[in-house]
Amino acid sequence: MRTHYCGLVNESLTDQVVEVCGWVHRRRDHGGVIFIDLRDREGLLQVVFNPDQAEMFAQAERIRSEYVLAVKGKVRSRLEGKENPDLASGKIEVIAQELTILNRAETPPFQLDDDDVSEEHRLRYRYIDLRTFGMTERLKTRAKISKAIRDYLDSDGYLEVETPMLTKATPEGARDYLVPSRTHHGQFFALPQSPQLFKQLLMVSGLDRYYQIVRCFRDEDLRADRQPEFTQLDIETSFLNEEQIMFSMETMMRQLFKTILDVDLAGPFPQMTYAEAMDRFGSDKPDLRIPLELLEVSDLMESVDFKVFSGPAKDPKCRVAALHVPKGSALSRKQIDAYTKFVAIYGAKGLAYIKVNDASNGREGLQSPIVKNLPDDVLDELLKRTKAESGDLIFFGADKTKIVNEALGALRIKVGEDLGLIEGDWRPLWVIDFPMFEYDEKAKRLNALHHPFTAPKDEHLDLLESDPEKCNSRAYDMILNGTELGGGSIRIHKQNVQKKVLKLLGISDEEAEDKFGFLLNALSYGCPPHGGIAFGLDRLVMLMTGANSIREVMAFPKTQSASCLLTQAPSEVSAEQLKELNIKVRQKPKETE
Ligand code: AMO
Ligand code: AMP
Repeated sequence: MRTHYCGLVNESLTDQVVEVCGWVHRRRDHGGVIFIDLRDREGLLQVVFNPDQAEMFAQAERIRSEYVLAVKGKVRSRLEGKENPDLASGKIEVIAQELTILNRAETPPFQLDDDDVSEEHRLRYRYIDLRTFGMTERLKTRAKISKAIRDYLDSDGYLEVETPMLTKATPEGARDYLVPSRTHHGQFFALPQSPQLFKQLLMVSGLDRYYQIVRCFRDEDLRADRQPEFTQLDIETSFLNEEQIMFSMETMMRQLFKTILDVDLAGPFPQMTYAEAMDRFGSDKPDLRIPLELLEVSDLMESVDFKVFSGPAKDPKCRVAALHVPKGSALSRKQIDAYTKFVAIYGAKGLAYIKVNDASNGREGLQSPIVKNLPDDVLDELLKRTKAESGDLIFFGADKTKIVNEALGALRIKVGEDLGLIEGDWRPLWVIDFPMFEYDEKAKRLNALHHPFTAPKDEHLDLLESDPEKCNSRAYDMILNGTELGGGSIRIHKQNVQKKVLKLLGISDEEAEDKFGFLLNALSYGCPPHGGIAFGLDRLVMLMTGANSIREVMAFPKTQSASCLLTQAPSEVSAEQLKELNIKVRQKPKETE
């Protein structure tokens, strides 16, 4: 039926007869000649119908947008001045000799070149949305990325192994998607939040280097970079330490960016401790393209006569931090009010600021609602520490450390974007030395910062007993431009350590046995030291294609409320099916309940 893709016919085929198939992208009648832009996956091709073939011409007149055609014709150069430099096939056109209408199409629900279609509409008619150039290109790039990753891992001795989808809960911090078992009354499978435990078992089995491009399921609040089902590039290795794993993963990324984007990522990637990242950027996934940093000023504010600052400055659970914005004094009152509202989203109670109008003029040169509360020596030291110059601005956050970090961390990105301060294209880094645990104020117990199978640093093993919150783990995250691309760790490979960590997480021996008995057992049968990582493939493709959401790089994503507009899933099932599963659905609770 076809000899060439439409988008790949070019001048090298001039005077040859080609057969192409595709969709009618556009039809134009030009005084007795009909032009059709025929579209397929690879692009557009201009097909010309002349009236001298009356029967075919009459058929061409009936053609509408999105009809599916097969055309046989001769390639010729376009007339001078009619070339289209934007198309691979822009120098030529095909003079139709034969036309078959393979299928008709209703008027599509939206025009493919309309940039203003709502996402809801696009998702409902996704099969049409995927015909657009942008979507097709992104899916093609995604396929190339997966292939390049497979090529690299294959050449480095990794085996691709599949793991079950119907399984037991894996604690990655989200709710599980459950699947009822028909054969086991009242019992459920969980869809994997990640293949974490299976890949560790593969190391116990001696497979040595594993990878999988695998679907994971997490029932959690969705955002631009989170979907309920998403794809991980999942990796595990034996007998390598963290530096070796990080080096191998960095090499893979460098090769990937070179192959796909012809970009040389500078290496080695910088490494930053979790503590430094939180201190300087208020985030464990700092966007290093933005040259603004949080500066600790708690020590300066301890004894000032301004309770908003001195209170948090003296409290070890709080911090007072400054954010120096070069040229920021040009910000209007209205803009500062908008930023104050912005930080309130993160719980900040205000956003104090100092405009440095004239840095050489002491207190007189400063404009601010708070300078009256700060003594001269503190103001001098502030200017010195921030290196603020005339025309700059300094924002302040004073509160619980978590609030200040989240508020000023988000503000530094927003201000950086608003003022056009973003420098460079790609700024990868590793964040290391994470704490093993964080205290969950609500549940009044420790949570694993990575997951419960992450090993503590050897030199912190004793802290597991004496001061677990001070214990750091052997985890590492790869960050790119403020997005967490991947996270991994060296795992616990000793049964007694694993039991101890589960206990610290408030998991009783019985519960540990019930949930992770198979893992604990496996650790006792010759488990090698091992570690790995998982990357969010959707996020990686999003960054590499410049998309602003992972939904733009997935063929059939879910909405923010975790439903599929195309298939209308989730949906109710028949009473029969429920009966077979021994499930009774309660009446929908009233809104007020
Ligand atoms: P983690 O939970 O950090 O680690 O997940 C690894 C990476 O997966 C991506 N990711 C997501 N992408 C889209 N939508 C989501 N809902 C979503 N959740 C996570 C992120 C993240 O960095 N088993 C461990 C890995 C390991 O230790 O080897 C794990 O799953 O890019
Ligand atoms: P007030 O004395 O409450 O009027 O606040 C004086 C200035 O401090 C205002 O600019 C407030 O936005 C700011 N402010 C109040 N609380 C905080 C806080 N917790 N952190 C930073 N700035 C604050």
